[in-house]
Amino acid sequence: MSIRPVKRVALSRPTMEGAGVRLRRAFGFGDTSDFDPFLMMDDFRGDSPSDYRAGFPWHPHRGIETITYVLAGTVEHQDSLGNKGQLGAGDVQWMTAGSGILHQEMPAGDPKGRMHGFQLWANLPSRLKMTKPRYQDVPSKEIPEITDDDGVTVRVICGEFWGKSGPVDGVAAEPRYLDVSVPAGKKKRLKVEDYRQAFAYVFEGSAAFADASEPFGVLREAEANGQEVLVRDPVGNRSLVVFGAGDEIVVQAGEQGVRFLLVSGRPLREPIAWHGPIVMNTDAEISQAMVDLRAGTFIRQ
Ligand code: CO
Repeated sequence: MSIRPVKRVALSRPTMEGAGVRLRRAFGFGDTSDFDPFLMMDDFRGDSPSDYRAGFPWHPHRGIETITYVLAGTVEHQDSLGNKGQLGAGDVQWMTAGSGILHQEMPAGDPKGRMHGFQLWANLPSRLKMTKPRYQDVPSKEIPEITDDDGVTVRVICGEFWGKSGPVDGVAAEPRYLDVSVPAGKKKRLKVEDYRQAFAYVFEGSAAFADASEPFGVLREAEANGQEVLVRDPVGNRSLVVFGAGDEIVVQAGEQGVRFLLVSGRPLREPIAWHGPIVMNTDAEISQAMVDLRAGTFIRQ
């Protein structure tokens, strides 16, 4: 077994999305090759409804999958296939846009006005970009949660881990999406097969993601604030950790413990043509999507 080194650590950046939702973008747009098959991840977390109330009104998607994981508050959704529903704390929605959908996603706070969720975009391989659109709504109770002897807890949202399979299925890039909690001071190794690309995103507490016995890491710039951090130092809330090659990661939780998403998948290594919520392989396919939107023929099936 070889431990994956930390390639890069960065804080998610404040961004405005939708009709004026204040969120933090962990990565997305520009060069996303380190994350392939994933394209983007947003952390939308607010203590005040004014941060998120404007929501994400009607917009199209084509060529990708969007995965929404709600931790606090709710997200009302509605789409061109006639689906309508609400995601609450712990629920997941895995939306395969395929050939095209129009949808809206409207966050609402919990009784204290708080909202927290993540949206991850997974790319579809060229052969599935125009597949039939599909929604998988997964209530929290259907997500396997496994606690190991040492108190480490993993929720398996998608993929297989520790002998359990997540409830989302039929997805192309073999995504594995885990919500991992490690108690204070505990150290844990977690398997991430070497064919996968992997990243972690810390959203509670802090942890180091490298073995203290390893040689010193390289100084890297934490992009959001210009501060230099040593990649083997503990990282805290809103840190994105990009892993290099290997077949497991190591995490050493800090004094408050740590909770993070651990996401990995099989890279597609295909050309990317990207226009907002539409991600295809060629510019011609993007132009076609624009023509379809103007002509009212975007929704194919
Ligand atoms: Co959307």
